[in-house]
Amino acid sequence: MEPKGYFIHESSVADEGCSIGEGTNIWHFCHVMAGARIGKDCTIGQNVMIATDVILGDRVKVQNNVSIYTGVTLEDEVFLGPSCVFTNVLHPRSAVNRKGQYTRTNVGKGATIGANATVVCGHDIGKFAFIGAGAVVTKKVPDYALVMGNPAIQKGWVSEFGHTLAFDWNGFAICPESDQEYKLENNQVTRIK
Ligand SMILES: CC(C)(COP(=O)(O)OP(=O)(O)OC[C@H]1O[C@@H](n2cnc3c(N)ncnc32)[C@H](O)[C@@H]1OP(=O)(O)O)[C@@H](O)C(=O)NCCC(=O)NCCS
Repeated sequence: MEPKGYFIHESSVADEGCSIGEGTNIWHFCHVMAGARIGKDCTIGQNVMIATDVILGDRVKVQNNVSIYTGVTLEDEVFLGPSCVFTNVLHPRSAVNRKGQYTRTNVGKGATIGANATVVCGHDIGKFAFIGAGAVVTKKVPDYALVMGNPAIQKGWVSEFGHTLAFDWNGFAICPESDQEYKLENNQVTRIK
């Protein structure tokens, strides 16, 4: 741990003007650009780029080979699987300068993005949503939704522990690992206990 309270491997670069929270570990060959803000107790794997003005909450985990582009915000406890892909321009053209016209994408608290998934910009991902490996997200993803495939289709709901929720006729479900209870109403899931 460095005196600053976080660790950054010597092969990585943190530009002046970024901020990195206490207890965060940044591993090999990463680049944190000026204006990026990383919260506390995050883990940033190998070969990760965090662009200008990107915000990461606390306890975020980023696996290897992820670029987090300007316009992306990750709330607390988001998990990014290896080589998942963000975008920030919907109709990019090399000859047309769209700097400063980035489309924003917010990833809600506790959400997981599976390995090699792609998030087309402008489609927010709800809290505790789960994006399957290799999915291509082209629509807003509701809280606690499980989506997969290309284009990503909702296949069910998941608990905060990542288990599929089997709702009964009255719209109640219990997470098999945590015993947390959930209610499905009007196509929205909330944790009730
Ligand atoms: C989405 C996921 C959570 C589903 O897991 P699961 O509930 O155990 O699902 P199952 O393996 O029982 O598969 C159920 C069905 O979904 C399909 N499926 C599973 N994962 C899929 C995916 N990522 N994309 C498309 N289809 C998928 C299966 O083929 C199966 O289809 P079938 O019913 O026609 O046979 C899991 O497959 C996944 O993608 N996890 C992310 C892993 C990851 O990226 N980890 C990163 C850290 S290393």
